[in-house]
Amino acid sequence: MDIPTPERVSADWLTERLREAGHPAVEVRGFDATRIGTGQLGSCYRYALDRVGDESAPKSLIGKFPSDDPASRQTGVMLRNYRKEVGFYRDLQARMRMRTPRCYYAAIEGDGPEHVLLLEDLAPAEQGDQLAGCSPEVARAAVLQLPGLHAPTWCDESLKEIDWLGHPTEQTIQLGRALYSANLGPFLERFAPRLEKDEADVIARAADSQGPPFEPLGEVFSIVHVDYRLDNLLIDEREDPPRVTAVDWQSLTVGNPLADVAYFLGAGLQPEVRRPVEREIVEAYHAALCEAGVRGYAWERCWEDYRRGTFNGFAVTVVASVMVQQTERGDEMFTAMARRHARHALDLGADELFAG
Ligand SMILES: Nc1ncnc2c1ncn2[C@@H]1O[C@H](COP(=O)(O)OP(=O)(O)OP(=O)(O)O)[C@@H](O)[C@H]1O
Ligand SMILES: [Mg+2]
Repeated sequence: MDIPTPERVSADWLTERLREAGHPAVEVRGFDATRIGTGQLGSCYRYALDRVGDESAPKSLIGKFPSDDPASRQTGVMLRNYRKEVGFYRDLQARMRMRTPRCYYAAIEGDGPEHVLLLEDLAPAEQGDQLAGCSPEVARAAVLQLPGLHAPTWCDESLKEIDWLGHPTEQTIQLGRALYSANLGPFLERFAPRLEKDEADVIARAADSQGPPFEPLGEVFSIVHVDYRLDNLLIDEREDPPRVTAVDWQSLTVGNPLADVAYFLGAGLQPEVRRPVEREIVEAYHAALCEAGVRGYAWERCWEDYRRGTFNGFAVTVVASVMVQQTERGDEMFTAMARRHARHALDLGADELFAG
């Protein structure tokens, strides 16, 4: 398997990859590499190519590699993040009807950490701003990409046999609950002063929930992105509706599809922006699912799954905020996430689902 580190990427190597990927006459004569993104587990580069021989070949590519940091690399192997992202591009992307970057090359050995992806450069589309949030138009466009991920794998039993997708088991659910409970104290100590009282309360009460967010896979499931939020979307607002493309497939799993919808709208919209538009956006998502061939999934059930999904951001916020290195920007981000997800659950009365 041919897996270079970023330092070992050469013009010849890029030439070979592009030739294998359908540009047999291309020759890369040289390139400029620029580091992009702020990867926790990965590191990304933009390659501006000096290439001849095939005008249809890309002028630039994005390369994604493991992080340089040993602890991050270990996490990426343990949680199979590297395996998942390569697996998505290699084995699943072709089934999807959602906009994703074209993949020119994807390689990994075992669960990594060494791996490489060469992706279509989505510029001039720009990364969304998680902290600022987005407009209802962008939110609608982002949510309406999701039926293209969920419908093609809707209740597909064969997903359960793809080992690296890691669907929830009794063991992972208990582990999730234990991690949440263990980090709740330190989380509240640091963040409670920045939260409204009812926000801190609902975050604390979730630890003992008999329902979401610590639940086994239900009857309705599909591939889910898991980390579907503005940071992981490239958005071109010159188009109408805005053109949204999803990247960062490292967290991919099998789960309730509405988890992606609720996580996105909860994290990406300020509550005042979300309230007047969310029902209409979820209805449009449901209509698109039906149009894509999903049968027997009633609107009432979709809405309840959406409410259930409001808790998906809780675990991420409580556990990640305590476990990653503390920075001022990080704290600001986690405060915003905690407040938005908590308010989302409270607005929808979703805490009544804690009774199980
Ligand atoms: N195909 C692409 N075209 C243009 N920009 C991209 C592309 N892929 C990634 N990027 C840019 O790089 C950023 C980081 O990419 P990505 O989210 O895949 O990795 P990361 O978040 O840095 O690492 P990790 O996934 O480990 O957290 C993106 O938010 C985006 O701004
Ligand atoms: Mg990312």
